[in-house]
Amino acid sequence: AKYNTIQDIRNKYLAGTPLSMCTAHDFITATWVNKANCDLLLVGDSLAMTSLGYDSTITLSLNEFKYHVSSVCRAEGSSMVVVDMPFGTFESDMSKGLKNAIDIMKLHSKVTSVKVEVGLYSTDKYTMKYIEELCSRGIPVMAHIGLTPQKVHSLGGYKVQANKSLLQMQELFETAKQLQKIGCWSILIECVPHKMAQFMTSKLSIPTIGIGAGNGTSGQVLVISDLLGMQGESVPKFVKQTVNMADIATQGLKEYIANVEDRTFPEKGPHTFKVKDELWSEFL
Ligand code: KIV
Ligand code: NA
Repeated sequence: AKYNTIQDIRNKYLAGTPLSMCTAHDFITATWVNKANCDLLLVGDSLAMTSLGYDSTITLSLNEFKYHVSSVCRAEGSSMVVVDMPFGTFESDMSKGLKNAIDIMKLHSKVTSVKVEVGLYSTDKYTMKYIEELCSRGIPVMAHIGLTPQKVHSLGGYKVQANKSLLQMQELFETAKQLQKIGCWSILIECVPHKMAQFMTSKLSIPTIGIGAGNGTSGQVLVISDLLGMQGESVPKFVKQTVNMADIATQGLKEYIANVEDRTFPEKGPHTFKVKDELWSEFL
């Protein structure tokens, strides 16, 4: 089984080709992502909300999440798998955090990198240190900066970041530089002004993956249920929905129900099984 390595992704970045990344939360969605040849596949903890119906990513347990990671990894194809470190899996102490990252890497040989949400370097010293410890142990890290949904409460909501104060802008840039220095192979930038993301990308020598960050990043990521309209039309401003699967699915189900109710399904012949006439006579 051949799939993209970090080196493959890096080569594409160096060639100046935009990188595509999309989330998947189970075997089926992961099969689609692979079949479409998306460069990177993220098992994001957003699946807590999009696939499991929680109202934030905070309450998702590591065990629930691992079940999804394994399911995604059973899909074949070349997309490189990056896996989120969910809230609560590394914050309490360093050794527990390292153990959990190792356990995630051990779930499947396809898991190539973890992704860790980190605040500004000046305040989130613990997570900066944690990321450094992971990198130093040969665990590839994609850092996630800007709007970090696991910190929704300390951020005071899902808001655009580094768009109001000079200090925040400077600190975000400094954070990105430090993350590169301590060994991250890439940085995901969520919901920051287009100009900030483009500027940071131009100053870094590792790929940036943007979401709500404009087209000046090295690549883009979207949540599959937003992208494909799996939950209807209500999606964040930064999403360009390419299809509406919820409508297609509802339509398909309505047709099925109508066919059941007027007995046009199942059709005798194409959808049914036979018994030999002689056997049937004997049975009667
Ligand atoms: O969990 C997720 O899907 C993510 C993306 C929004 C980047 O972290
Ligand atoms: Na996430």
